[in-house]
Amino acid sequence: MSETERILELATGLAREAGAIQRERWGTELQISTKSADVDLVTEVDRACEDLIVAALERERPADSILAEEGGLREKPGSTWRWVVDPLDGTTNFAHSYPCFCVSIGVELEGEATVGVVYNPIMDELFHAVRGGGAFLNGEPIHATRETKLGRSLVATGFAYDRRKSHRDNLTELACFLDRARAIRRDGSAALDLCAVACGRLDGYWEFKLAPWDVAGGRVIVEEAGGRVSDFHGGPAPASGAQMLASNGGIHDAMLEALAAAREEDAEAQG
Ligand code: IPD
Ligand code: CA
Ligand code: CA
Repeated sequence: MSETERILELATGLAREAGAIQRERWGTELQISTKSADVDLVTEVDRACEDLIVAALERERPADSILAEEGGLREKPGSTWRWVVDPLDGTTNFAHSYPCFCVSIGVELEGEATVGVVYNPIMDELFHAVRGGGAFLNGEPIHATRETKLGRSLVATGFAYDRRKSHRDNLTELACFLDRARAIRRDGSAALDLCAVACGRLDGYWEFKLAPWDVAGGRVIVEEAGGRVSDFHGGPAPASGAQMLASNGGIHDAMLEALAAAREEDAEAQG
């Protein structure tokens, strides 16, 4: 077994274990607290899932660095692999018993997103990809759609937790896509949005002000499913999650045009 295969096996097992905790606690009474804003939630299940994953990584992969949402960066000097973990993506959904959340694990080799594992415990759907090896849902190959017209496309987005304070709240972009796409969804889990693009349930997805753990797992899965990820200008998508445009490839330029139109409208509004 190659090192990448061992990493994939470990990531898959941990995503399933953390997902089992989420399945068990879903719909039960939770301790809910807030983080960066009063709409930015965290529960004891987010922390329990992260603790499980981080403890296993420290045991099994002591030389690897870990960046995890709740605990931050545990950097190992000289490490070649870095695990980027969102222990529960879709916390607001989880806190409201809305069945759309997941565990997302991305593993970077020398800074390049190389392995992605996203597990939806309610649907029992495990998405995975290794760079160069295709993308899979429960072991079956998946592919992005072949749609080429934004007007026939289903796209999704999301809104950052600072939206009550920031003017960059995605509303101009939303209006531009409402004019251009067939329909828009807001599912509340960036990692599952990316996987939905990868398996053809969505044709495209955009969001900004995400975090590295929101995108680290899903971006490899999109690319390996034949889709494209970029920033809002068509350049490489930053690992920071600051801008994420993911599509089937065929509507990517039309999505870039919609984002450019939103920028222009915002600039005009500011005089
Ligand atoms: C959030 C979800 C949501 C996105 C937010 C993320 P969390 O992650 O992915 O869809 O719109 O920007 O922060 O807080 O549930 O892990
Ligand atoms: Ca997240
Ligand atoms: Ca999270």
